Amino acid sequence: MIKIFPDLNKLNQIAAEKFITIGNRAIEQNGRFAVALAGGSTPKLLYRLLTTTQFKNKIDWTKVFFFLGDERNVSPENQESNFRTANENLFKPLQIPAENIFRWQTELTNAEKIAENYAQTIKNFFDLTENEFPRFDLILLGMGDDGHTASLFPFTTALSETEKIAVSNRVEKLDTTRLTFTFPTINNSLNIIFLIGGASKAETLQQVLEGEFQPEKFPSQAVKPRSGNLFWLVDEQAAQLLK
Ligand code: 6PG
Repeated sequence: MIKIFPDLNKLNQIAAEKFITIGNRAIEQNGRFAVALAGGSTPKLLYRLLTTTQFKNKIDWTKVFFFLGDERNVSPENQESNFRTANENLFKPLQIPAENIFRWQTELTNAEKIAENYAQTIKNFFDLTENEFPRFDLILLGMGDDGHTASLFPFTTALSETEKIAVSNRVEKLDTTRLTFTFPTINNSLNIIFLIGGASKAETLQQVLEGEFQPEKFPSQAVKPRSGNLFWLVDEQAAQLLK
């Protein structure tokens, strides 16, 4: 489902409401809410909004468990770190207990080890058997100007991963190795919300939503929840080329 908003403030009001509704339903049904946060800058607004008096008392945060859908291979204090963004804008202001936060352990030696470690952390949390994928209650995603989501970039190896929960992913054009959920993990989620804003996304969004299916070129097209809900929350700038 695609919802178009006049601006990012209105978009994030609805995103925050959805976050709380999905979260309270998960807590009601199984006593906890497992959510994977998006990186980048767009979600910052949502995180800050959740810490305001309008939302912060609407859910029992001790029952909310936070993961990150992807991460840069940097220390948790680094400006580039998605954990850091969430920590500064959400975890610290809400005083989320450390045991409710599961970040990629980027202090480990190499990217493969970090990804294996994170996959094992997720397996333990969800009590998974060997070939099972986690079922997050909610995964938040952004979309890059090039159509990437999480750290699943066009024409990169991780796009075709079908066995692992989380992997390292070499991104030549950024000359870096990223850390990311795989599509089987993302598509096993009960709810997925894309948060997309700005004119720079318009051309790619039109291709992703209305163009031909080319998921290698536009990885966001491969986000298709197996049996969950998919919401595209988009501002008018980013939606301006949609028919
Ligand atoms: C990351 C993000 C990435 C992000 C998109 C969009 O680690 O960079 O997870 O997938 O969501 O690049 O970023 P913006 O929302 O900042 O445009």
